[in-house]
Amino acid sequence: MSEALANLLNETRQFPPPAELAAKANVKADAYAEAERDRLAFWERQADRLTWAKKWDQVLDWSNPPFAKWFVGGQLNVAYNCLDRHVEAGRGDKVAIHWEGEPGDTRTLTYADLHKLTCQAANALSELGVTAGDRVAIYLPMIPEAAAAMLACARIGATHSVVFGGFSADALTNRIQDATAKVVITADGGYRRGKPSALKPTVDEAVAKCPSVEHVLVVRRTGEDVAWSEKDLWWHETVETASPEHAAQPFDAEHPLYILYTSGTTARPKGILHTTGGYLTQTSYTMHAVFDLKPETDVYWCTADIGWVTGHSYIVYGPLSNGATQVMYEGTPDTPHKGRFWEIVDKYKVTILYTAPTLIRTMMKWGEDIPAGYDLSSLRLLGSVGEPINPEAWIWYRQHVGRGELPVVDTWWQTETGAIMISPLPGVTEAKPGSAMTQLPGIVADVLDDQGQSVPNGGGGYLVLREPWPSMLRTIWGDDNRFIETYWSRFGAGAGAGGAGDWIYFAGDGAKKDDDGHIWLLGRVDDVMLVSGHNISTTEVESALVSHPSVAEAAVVGAADPTTGQAIVAFAIPRGTAEVSGEAGEQLIAELRNHVAKTLGPIAKPRQIMLVPELPKTRSGKIMRRLLRDVAEHRSLGDVTTLQDSSVMELISSGMGGGK
Ligand code: WT7
Repeated sequence: MSEALANLLNETRQFPPPAELAAKANVKADAYAEAERDRLAFWERQADRLTWAKKWDQVLDWSNPPFAKWFVGGQLNVAYNCLDRHVEAGRGDKVAIHWEGEPGDTRTLTYADLHKLTCQAANALSELGVTAGDRVAIYLPMIPEAAAAMLACARIGATHSVVFGGFSADALTNRIQDATAKVVITADGGYRRGKPSALKPTVDEAVAKCPSVEHVLVVRRTGEDVAWSEKDLWWHETVETASPEHAAQPFDAEHPLYILYTSGTTARPKGILHTTGGYLTQTSYTMHAVFDLKPETDVYWCTADIGWVTGHSYIVYGPLSNGATQVMYEGTPDTPHKGRFWEIVDKYKVTILYTAPTLIRTMMKWGEDIPAGYDLSSLRLLGSVGEPINPEAWIWYRQHVGRGELPVVDTWWQTETGAIMISPLPGVTEAKPGSAMTQLPGIVADVLDDQGQSVPNGGGGYLVLREPWPSMLRTIWGDDNRFIETYWSRFGAGAGAGGAGDWIYFAGDGAKKDDDGHIWLLGRVDDVMLVSGHNISTTEVESALVSHPSVAEAAVVGAADPTTGQAIVAFAIPRGTAEVSGEAGEQLIAELRNHVAKTLGPIAKPRQIMLVPELPKTRSGKIMRRLLRDVAEHRSLGDVTTLQDSSVMELISSGMGGGK
């Protein structure tokens, strides 16, 4: 890439693991060499952490790339691995889920409780005619029934398709239709921002357009009135009265476990298909390795929603297959007050916290006094996922949540990869703020230039994965061609005429290798700007802005410019204390432009900076740069339906014009 890129390499801070954690870490440095000696044997050993009904005959069948088969011939039951085997080993009384409802109501489910509920749900689904291979849509708030519903599907071999509870009736309809789901599991509603938020009316609207749906199972959560049709059944009358006895049948290692639709800011959503044995192997191993989970003593909390892959892999399958005790929280971080997260950490003595950069930046904006008001001394490890984490947000997280001493693991992966791929190992890696650092043992990542050549240290380009991995997506549901087209046709053997060598997975993210060969993620490749012939990543400019003490959060886009091709336009949210109106605002803007120029080089100086109160985000917390580009180029706004809060765009658009 460019000079701007080289300039970001001036991030030199580095933090070694705490000595005590390193000494007792689940995974030590030798894992890298072990996996390098024999990658497939390494994954076999990780698969052995699970309980198989029948052992595999072959680790990997890659004879028909890019369609992989892992642990060929092996059989296992995912729910058995997440529940029964812990109960059978005498750990039935161990807490699986400390659940906290948004209004403050709580439930505690042991492994025996969750096992019972899952078996009942499995029996109820079977009685409704659901059999192995059928699809079940799940549209629930963050309540324990969501985990039980997913595990019940896994138990009977039905393929679940969880749809995030914030999605509209149209989004739900499309997903039910694409997967031709037979049953929908939902609730009357859940609690969001201090009040009940209905789900059932959305399901009613969707189901009316989905002839494949035979039954709708409804959990009563809020107790609000709901319309009722002959397809509807109450969960408490159907599941909770079903037999708790259920023998889990083993399924083939490649049996479809779930479909999850990528949220997609522009194109038609893709139904990412994950299967059984390889998926559980890698989610289980990475939970153990990256979070250093000690099931006997840790209390783990992942703040994601079950509607995203993070919730699938690191609330349900990774933690439960390892027998973890975890916290599950229903609501928003600022209800009823901005200290809610830290209150929960304090209350349940959380030891491992896994959250997203967007939340960390929100907490930064609210100020460090808020976490300082709680006892966070139980924490021993912090994780981040979802976007590149700006170095300053990383430092803030370590400083104000991690007492200036806890390791932060910045974990890179995707819905498509199923599990963590690039991340520090908390007992091994000297982490650099802002870098996901190193491919995990058993993973082969690289950064390629436009011609498909591996870039040297110090270079930038496209992130790729060179070898298949156990939890990789197997296809896009019903669309093998799109699977090949999207992920396997940019580089390597799948790149049409001239494509040569091995099959290479194209992740769609820009990345660079620093002088030590560590990997830095630069955001989606569509978010790279071309300014006067230089490639500049939006992430780099955003990180430069956030490194200024007056900026809490920033989004950067390239806007068409008659002289430079694209020009950098930045949107910045000032920190709580910064003075932003009138002349003080103009001064701050001038200072910020110079600050970016000083940090990254003059080429990266934004043409324009706007101070804004909020940024447009998808419901999974990703900034929708497409909408900001519309504003920057004075266009009318495109589709805003996937926005978390559509009023944000009015606030931003009304301020546009000033701030040159
Ligand atoms: C995209 C995948 C993985 C679970 C949540 C998101 C971005 C994710 C990081 C990270 C930089 C990251 C990438 C990736 N991303 N984690 N640690 N550093 N970027 O899943 O919705 O499938 O999104 O999120 O751009 O491609 P997803």
